[in-house]
Amino acid sequence: MLVLGIESSCDETAAAVVNDRREILGEVVLSQLDEHRPFGGVVPEIAARSHLAHLDRLVAEAMRRAGLGFADLDGVAATGGPGLIGGVIVGVMTGKAIALASGKPFLAVNHLEGHALTPRLTHDIGFPYLLLLASGGHCQLLAVEGVGRYTRLGTTIDDAAGEAFDKVAKMAGLGYPGGPAVEKAAAGGDPARFALPRPMKGKPGCDFSFSGLKNAARLLIESLPQPLAEQDQADVARAFQDAVADSMADRVRRGAREMKSRWPAARHLVVAGGVAANAALRQVLLRIGNETGLEFLAPPLKLCTDNAAMIAWAGIERLRLGQSDDLSFAPRPRWPLDPNARKGAPNTWKGAKA
Ligand code: KG4
Ligand code: ZN
Repeated sequence: MLVLGIESSCDETAAAVVNDRREILGEVVLSQLDEHRPFGGVVPEIAARSHLAHLDRLVAEAMRRAGLGFADLDGVAATGGPGLIGGVIVGVMTGKAIALASGKPFLAVNHLEGHALTPRLTHDIGFPYLLLLASGGHCQLLAVEGVGRYTRLGTTIDDAAGEAFDKVAKMAGLGYPGGPAVEKAAAGGDPARFALPRPMKGKPGCDFSFSGLKNAARLLIESLPQPLAEQDQADVARAFQDAVADSMADRVRRGAREMKSRWPAARHLVVAGGVAANAALRQVLLRIGNETGLEFLAPPLKLCTDNAAMIAWAGIERLRLGQSDDLSFAPRPRWPLDPNARKGAPNTWKGAKA
């Protein structure tokens, strides 16, 4: 089974061809980072126009690398949401056009489902498993029970994890995107110089929060001589990264216990999203995995961040179950994986105390 995947929901334009033997036959990712950098963040209108300018060529290139024509495909999958709507429309229309012209099934894939199923592309694992999705737009703990079956155990009640990294980096004069800049600076930072709060630590449930920590970091930065000296930047970065890792450790530990209690067959803790690049966070997750009896799996970085192979793979998973979507599918700016989890609604599980 061969599926073409298209991703265009944020600031990466991507196309990939994947088969059901978990092989990526051809893939291309074009980052728009340089186009957005002057603005210090993703500009939706620039993103949409850039997807439109490049997607056709990238699809052709992915097909060329795979050595295939559209007639060889079994389906065409495009990110149908959630994301920046202009970009999602570009990808969905392109996917529908290819599907219609070549007489293949079309699949509108939930971008989050793409992230959630990636560990089954990179590792031969079964359901259920626990997923931490931490990116520029999301911070969620999900019980992945099956294709299309997700229970959200926790989510951020304010900022996403990557968003907090990006904002603190900007305030500290470390540039964009912030995550890699903070991690690099933190490596030379003194962990004992500043102490920042650990949001949600010890609270019931496994929701996340980063805005209080971000504000505390802002006040700390403002209290230092401006512009920040290199050592001050490093010490702030270290304090912030330690606080994020510590707060997330508490939340993920609770999530892992809940997972084991409600889904005893769970064997794996998996991470996805750009924040998964952070080595301090990975260390924390490895430790929690060991503590709670869940094997920690991290897909290679290029499959943790936005890419089209994960969309093609989610398409394969759905196609194998006989699913596809109608060409009347309307792109969705919002599309929760767990429809029962209302935005910010607390998880009311009353199980094992942390
Ligand atoms: O998944 P991703 O590539 O794009 C989406 O948000 O969908 O994630 C990007 C986010 C950015 O906020 C970036 O600052 C963060 O991931 N990030 C990191 C690191 N590398 C990227 N955060 C912390 N440490 C890193 N090393
Ligand atoms: Zn993503």
